[in-house]
Amino acid sequence: MKIKIANVVGARPNFMKVAPLVDEMKTHEDIEPILVHTGQHYDQTMSKLFFDDLGLPKPDIYLGVGSAGHGAQTGKIMLEFERVLQENKPDVVIVVGDVNSTIACGLVAVKMGVRLAHVEAGLRSHDRTMPEEINRVLTDQISDYLFITERQAHRNLQREGIDQEKIFFTGNVMIDSLLKHRERAEQSHILPALDVAPKRYGLVTLHRPSNVDQHENLAKILEALITVQQQLPLIFPVHPRTRKMLQAFGLEEKVQAAANLKLIAPLGYLDFLKLMAHAKFVLTDSGGIQEETTVLGAPCMTLRENTERPITVEAGTNIVIGNSAGRIVEESNRILAGHGKKGALPELWDGHAAERIVRILLEKESPKSG
Ligand code: UD1
Repeated sequence: MKIKIANVVGARPNFMKVAPLVDEMKTHEDIEPILVHTGQHYDQTMSKLFFDDLGLPKPDIYLGVGSAGHGAQTGKIMLEFERVLQENKPDVVIVVGDVNSTIACGLVAVKMGVRLAHVEAGLRSHDRTMPEEINRVLTDQISDYLFITERQAHRNLQREGIDQEKIFFTGNVMIDSLLKHRERAEQSHILPALDVAPKRYGLVTLHRPSNVDQHENLAKILEALITVQQQLPLIFPVHPRTRKMLQAFGLEEKVQAAANLKLIAPLGYLDFLKLMAHAKFVLTDSGGIQEETTVLGAPCMTLRENTERPITVEAGTNIVIGNSAGRIVEESNRILAGHGKKGALPELWDGHAAERIVRILLEKESPKSG
C-alpha cells in the first residue's frame, strides 16, 4: 500500500516550497503524491510562470477559487477541498507557509481525520494584525507534523504548548528550490532586458496590506523610493494588489515622473532570482525574500516593524527598518556607501530539507511491520 500525500499550493510563495517536496516524493515508490492547486493566485504571472520555471507538474486537481475577501476565499477553499479529500482519501495533507489556502485546507484535513503536516511551522511575527500570523498560529495548533526552518520556531511552538514530538527541524524547502535553480537563473537575460548592470540597481517588492492598502503609507514609501532612485535605478515588479492600490490612490503619475523607478509586471521565478542575486540591495515586505537574499548574500531591507524570520537578521543580510521615508533613504544610503550587512548561511539551509521531510513522513507513515 502506498502512502498517499496531498500537497497543497495556493499562492505564489507556495510553489517554490512544494516543488522540491513533490520532486522528492516521486523518487520513492511507496509514496503517491497528489498536487492540489486552490487557485488563490491564478494570473499567468502569479501562478503558471512558476509552474514552468520550477518544473512543477500540472496540478492533479485545480479548485479555481480565485480572489475574494478573507471569509469568502477561505470558505470557498474549504468547501472545494472537502470534496477533494472525500474523493481522494489521502493519508496525509501537506500545507506550506501562511496563506489563506494553508489554514483552509489544514482545517478541512483535520476535521476529516486526515493527518496534517505543516511545512515552515512555528514562525511568529507576534503581530496579530497580519492575516498570515493568524494563519500560522492556527495551522500549527492543528498539525500532526510541524517541520521548522529555524530554531526560534521550536521555542515559539513550545510556548504555545505544542507537543515536542511533533516538531522536526528539517531546514528550508524554499532554499532547496533556490539552490537547485540558481545556475539556471544565471542564464536569464533580465538584466540587459531592463537595461541594468550587476550591483548597479536596487530591487523593490511591496504587497503587505499594512504597506499598500492605506494611501498614506504607500505614498510615503513611494516618496522614499523616488529619493533613492536619484542615486540608483530601482526595479519594482508590482504585485497585483499593489497595482490596484496605486491606481485607486491616483499615485501612478507620481511614479511615472521618476525616470529611474521602473515599475514592471511581476516576474517569473528564474528572472526574479537573477535580479535578487545581483542587486545592490533589496527593499521588500515579503517573508520569503528575506530568506532568499540571506542565502544569496544580497543586503535586504525589510519594510515592516517585525519579522517572523529572525534568523535572517541574526545570521543573514536582513535588517528590519519599518516604512518611514527617512529611514528607507538613510539605510539605502548606508548600503550605497559600502555598509551592507554580510551574512552567513543559516543552519540546515543546504538544499536537502525536502529529503529530510519525506524521510520522516516515510518513517512515521509506513505501516508497521509484524
Ligand atoms: C497572498 C497571501 C500573502 C502572500 C501573498 C504573496 C493571504 C492572506 N495572503 O496575499 O501571505 O505573501 O499572497 O503574493 O493568503 N490578484 C490578482 N491575480 C492573482 C492573485 C491576486 O489580480 O493571481 C489580486 C486580486 O485583486 C486580489 C489581490 O490581488 O484581490 C490580493 O490577492 P490575495 O490572494 O487575496 O492576497 P495577496 O495580497 O496576494
